[in-house]
Amino acid sequence: MTATKPVNLWTSTDHVRDYLGRADQISHRTEGESALLELIPRETRRILDLGTGDGRLLALVRSEHPDTESVAVDFSPAMLHESRKRFADDSRVRVVEHNMDSSLPALGNFDAVISSFAIHHLVHERKRALYAEVFALLNAGGVFCNLEHVSSPTPRLHEEFLLRIGFTVETEDPSNKLLDLETQLGWLREIGFTDVDCLWKWRELALLVGRK
Ligand SMILES: C[S@@+](CC[C@H](N)C(=O)[O-])C[C@H]1O[C@@H](n2cnc3c(N)ncnc32)[C@H](O)[C@@H]1O
Repeated sequence: MTATKPVNLWTSTDHVRDYLGRADQISHRTEGESALLELIPRETRRILDLGTGDGRLLALVRSEHPDTESVAVDFSPAMLHESRKRFADDSRVRVVEHNMDSSLPALGNFDAVISSFAIHHLVHERKRALYAEVFALLNAGGVFCNLEHVSSPTPRLHEEFLLRIGFTVETEDPSNKLLDLETQLGWLREIGFTDVDCLWKWRELALLVGRK
């Protein structure tokens, strides 16, 4: 019997257009982004953004840390097009095509690894493996900041969250592979991260943080 491939619609241009059209309206996201910005160490020199999309989060971080070099990873042609357009005049940002279902390629070491609303599209086993890869490529003192979509503890809370962002159980993105916050914080600790915590949360949107 052949295993079915997990659904991931992010290579569809329509899916990307739909997201980018409403990305600014996602409730409370700017609060999460501000909380993330506070955590990037002043001495950061290299930043990696996982699932960069159109480069929204990386652009925010770079606006506060202009003297940095960055790598932005994504696998969606439409998103890669948008992020390459955004950073076209910025030779210090390299946009790399990579499907994070597979191990990260050699990208060097980083002082900050950031991500927003991307890793929950990977199957759970791969999420954990990716967290270990992030730990390995962080410099000592480096930080991992994952602004993520996590699962709710009950179906009722999940439905309430979906309604607040304009979805229902029927219309939610089938690419989502949501996992609870506690399991993911536990993984970060097991892997060796310190100061692991959820430093911001609104319903299913959470900022998971760990330091090497
Ligand atoms: C909800 S969007 C978030 C984009 C951006 N980080 C933001 O905050 O606006 C999810 C992103 O994860 C990327 N993504 C999903 N699965 C991926 C995979 N297997 N490998 C690489 N990127 C992936 C998508 O292409 C998309 O750009």
